[in-house]
Amino acid sequence: MFRKIALSAAAALTLAAPAAHAAGAAGHVTDYEFSFEGPFGTYDQAQLQRGLQVYTQVCAACHGLQYVPLRTLTSETGPGMPEDQVRAYAEQNFQVYDEETDEWRAARPNDHFPAVESAGAPDLSLMAKARAGFSGPYGTGLNQLFKGMGGAEYIASLLTHYTGEDRVEAGTVLYENESFPGGWISMAPPLYEGAVEYMDGTEATEEQMAKDVAAFLMWTAEPKMMERKQAGFTGVLFLTVLSVLLYLTNKRIWAPIKARAKDES
Ligand code: HEC
Repeated sequence: MFRKIALSAAAALTLAAPAAHAAGAAGHVTDYEFSFEGPFGTYDQAQLQRGLQVYTQVCAACHGLQYVPLRTLTSETGPGMPEDQVRAYAEQNFQVYDEETDEWRAARPNDHFPAVESAGAPDLSLMAKARAGFSGPYGTGLNQLFKGMGGAEYIASLLTHYTGEDRVEAGTVLYENESFPGGWISMAPPLYEGAVEYMDGTEATEEQMAKDVAAFLMWTAEPKMMERKQAGFTGVLFLTVLSVLLYLTNKRIWAPIKARAKDES
């Protein structure tokens, strides 16, 4: 059994390797620490709120979050913002097109974050999941399995690994980035020291903002992560108790027969 698994894993590796090379070398991804790693890890509310701020003030100019309902910002296992604060946030930051009145109006908690198409930038709602599995040798995703590295590490790395070089290709400026597969991305470096001013006094270094917005995007992509882990933990606990009970029941059922067998021998 194990031999079979090992063989097919080896086959998969050799098959995957040339493909990864053809697509250009996979980028470098730093294994940043996040509070939500591991079986008991949880989102850090203050960090999610800081990440929301970075998204709003920097990324939202180009990237939408069209699958994320604004009201989920109140989620206890997410950013946990009070309802009136979410209402004010939606109103102040986003305009949405209302099909009923055929007019633009300020966003409400019942709306989603808007989509943004003008900049040709991908929607970020699910980006942290979409980019979760590709880091590791030859893009095999083994780093996710062994180090718990996923989309959040990739996004934080992407934002902090610009080299400062750029070139123009077919009228588009490309920026050299060590984390982006292929090494050249059309997104200009979005962060710089002090790009936002945090209300909780955290110093807004480039790395801090990158990690905060990456954590926030992990939450948008997987808002129920904490519930999922909780359910998994309950499941394991339940199965453990069940195993013990079954073991004891089994012993008890067979006890008279074992005793008889002993007598007869
Ligand atoms: C000026 C516009 C602009 C801003 C501001 C901007 N981006 Fe981008 N972003 C882009 C464009 C354009 C792309 C597509 C790049 C490409 O595929 O070459 C992109 C791509 C991405 C990708 C996908 C990379 C991949 O693997 O395909 C991520 C993740 C990302 N941006 C995150 C962010 C975050 C987080 C912020 C805020 C800190 C941000 N961006 C701010 C324009 C922007």
